[in-house]
Order: sequence, then structure tokens, then C-alpha cells
Amino acid sequence: MIAAVSERTAREVITLDGPAASGKSTVARALAERLDVPFVSSGLLYRAAAYLALAAGADPSGDDALVHLLERRRVRLIPHRDGDRVTVDGEEVTERLHTDAVDAAVSAVAARPRVRAWVNERLREIDGAFVIDGRDMGREVFPEARCKLYLTARPEVRAARRVGERDADLTAVTDAIRRRDAADARQSRPADDAVELDTSDLDLDETVERAWRIVAGRLAADDS
Ligand code: DC
Repeated sequence: MIAAVSERTAREVITLDGPAASGKSTVARALAERLDVPFVSSGLLYRAAAYLALAAGADPSGDDALVHLLERRRVRLIPHRDGDRVTVDGEEVTERLHTDAVDAAVSAVAARPRVRAWVNERLREIDGAFVIDGRDMGREVFPEARCKLYLTARPEVRAARRVGERDADLTAVTDAIRRRDAADARQSRPADDAVELDTSDLDLDETVERAWRIVAGRLAADDS
């Protein structure tokens, strides 16, 4: 049954992928709460890599220097019900990962194959059941996941949601989102077996309900 997901000790993963501001982290958090499992935000590790590159003055698009930097630091993603935490050598840096500077650098960092390998290794170390959001969780990192969702929404709709989160100009944010879509396009594609959900015309509650029905249906079908 669905409630049993949280009791499984074998890895049990539900993936939620999609472009920037498609609502995936909010939906992933809501699903995780209903399933009583942790929510893991894979983007935080890319953000941590971008943050470390910026803090060190390293070139965010330089593969080797960046990976060397990451391997010298102890970066931990700690799933938490009130929001994941990221620590670097024991120091909490979570609050520093959602700035405009990190936003601007993170796509270049995330495009580096060795950085992706470093992030994926950290993610595959996580045991047990969890809901995870990202770009390529269903396709690349957890192809064996039982349930995969891919959320989309029109760029203007996503920009309007972002403007609601941060004090910013709608046109500038729409442009920034289109640029990030283009930069993330290679790694942001749905898995063949993902269920796609367009949230453009849905509010948050409706989106969560639709996503929940998909997940609950899949888990119940698998268990029957
Ligand atoms: O989901 P987010 O906005 O926190 O992601 C930050 C950046 O990391 C974004 O530019 C895309 C990238 N990313 C990625 O390439 N692959 C993932 N699995 C998660 C995020």
C-alpha cells in the first residue's frame, strides 16, 4: 500500500523533473509529506557547486578546476522535512544558494559532465525512500524509479510565479527563464516512462492533487 513507502528500506524513489519554476519543488515537497518520506532537491547540489566556484573565484565553466575544488570540500545534502540543508565542511550554506549570482552561474556549472557525475554520486548515496526533484532524475540518475513525473508550464507562467517569490521585473524574469531553459535543455528532458503534467493552467492545489493521483495510481497498481 502507499503508506508503506516510508517503511521500505530498499531504495524507493519518486522523481519529479521539469524546467525552472515549473513548480516541481513545491509539488515534490507536498508529495513527500503525503507519503511521509523525505524530499530531496538535487538542484541544491548544483547550486552548492556554483556557490563554491563563485566563492573561490573559479571559472564556473572550467571542469577540472571545479571538480578538484568540490573534491577538496565535504559537501553534504541533508534531507529535512522543513527543507533540505546543505553543509560545506560542516558549515550550513543553504541560505546562500538562492541568490541571483548563483542563479546566473549555476547553468554553466551544471553543464559540466564531471560536475554532473559528482552530483549524481552524492545523490545515489542516499538510502531509503524519498521524493526527488531535478532535471534528469528519472532519465539519468534513478532510471529504476517506480514513479516519474515531468512538470512543465509556459515560460510566462513560470516567470510570474518566480516574480511572486522574489521582488523582480516580469519581463526580465521571463527572459532569464527562457535563457535558463535553453542552457538547461540538454539535461532537462523527460524519461520515456515519465508522466508529463502541464501546470500552466493549474493552481498549486490542483497541481498537487493531479500529481498525487498519478503517484497514488502508480504505487497502487504496482502493489496490486
Ligand atoms: O532546480 P533548481 O533551480 O534549484 O536547479 C538549479 C540549477 O541546477 C538549474 O540551472 C538546473 C540545474 N540542475 C540540473 O542541471 N540537474 C538537476 N538534476 C537539477 C538542477
